[in-house]
Amino acid sequence: MTVSPTSPTLLSAFAEDVVSGLSGDQPRLSSKWFYDERGSKLFQSIMQTDEYYLTNAEEEIFRACGKDLLARTDGKPFDLIELGAGDGTKTQYIIETFLAHKARFAYRPIDLNASALKELSELINVRWPKLDFEPIQADYFEALNRLGNSSGTRQRLLLFPGANIGNFTPGEAVEILKRIRSFLSPGDLLLTGFDLKKDPAVVLAAYNDPQGYTASFNLNLLERINRELKGNFVLDCWRHWETYDPSTGSAKSFLVPIEDQSVRIGVAGRNFNFRAWQPVEVEISQKYSLREVEGMADAAGFEFVEHYQDSKQYFTDSLWRVPSR
Ligand code: AVI
Repeated sequence: MTVSPTSPTLLSAFAEDVVSGLSGDQPRLSSKWFYDERGSKLFQSIMQTDEYYLTNAEEEIFRACGKDLLARTDGKPFDLIELGAGDGTKTQYIIETFLAHKARFAYRPIDLNASALKELSELINVRWPKLDFEPIQADYFEALNRLGNSSGTRQRLLLFPGANIGNFTPGEAVEILKRIRSFLSPGDLLLTGFDLKKDPAVVLAAYNDPQGYTASFNLNLLERINRELKGNFVLDCWRHWETYDPSTGSAKSFLVPIEDQSVRIGVAGRNFNFRAWQPVEVEISQKYSLREVEGMADAAGFEFVEHYQDSKQYFTDSLWRVPSR
């Protein structure tokens, strides 16, 4: 996803977020601002590393789960809505299977990134020109608002892939899933990608690739602040540091200053002092157990239906249904 705050609204949201994040006792920056043009390219590079297992794991799942997924729908025409669709690389396997089984559905991919949606539209037009397809360029909840509440007459199958839910704390994740639930009716389905707890060495390596793409991806946020918010971070004075706590399942990325420094954020007219070795938290990538995922289904008002897993059992796309009242 590429989010370029060219619009004044996004630019001021970025500035406000940075200022409030850096003002707390434990300074933090939000990973949602990682994805400018360079950040999106670096994320593509991360996904191609041997260490970043998540992408291949979910692709393996999407190649295999389509038939079962379709069998869980009510057999009538339905809407396939995808949150954070990107260029649709993985979802095309599900669409392919649905069409091979003569499913009648409309595809509504949602993403903020206009160029990814353009690529997706080209792919769909070439492969399936007759598919009822309408991309929506907006953030998740703005797009869901535009689509309106589920009528209940046409089933919704909502995809929320890519472990994007892991970039929120477990508490925030439940709130987001509840909010998604509010756009669905009894019988509607939600398929969410969760990265699973596993050998801590495997998790840690995924966020510490030897080529240094992850380090550049995180440091790019400081570069973006410099460029768009008139900041003066000296990038050489910061190190990427990754931690994984197997007891909580939280992988966290930090940027650590190697010396005391004062940084000005020109657009906000504010200075921030950083002390050497006092980290700034920039991302959480939460890992779950299957039981925790099932507990989240319950906490967010869904009933758990099925886990679709890859052969290494590194990842689950978990299918939930909105229960009848
Ligand atoms: C987008 N998100 C699920 C990725 C993750 O694994 O948390 C972002 C990422 N950060 C570093 N590497 C990849």
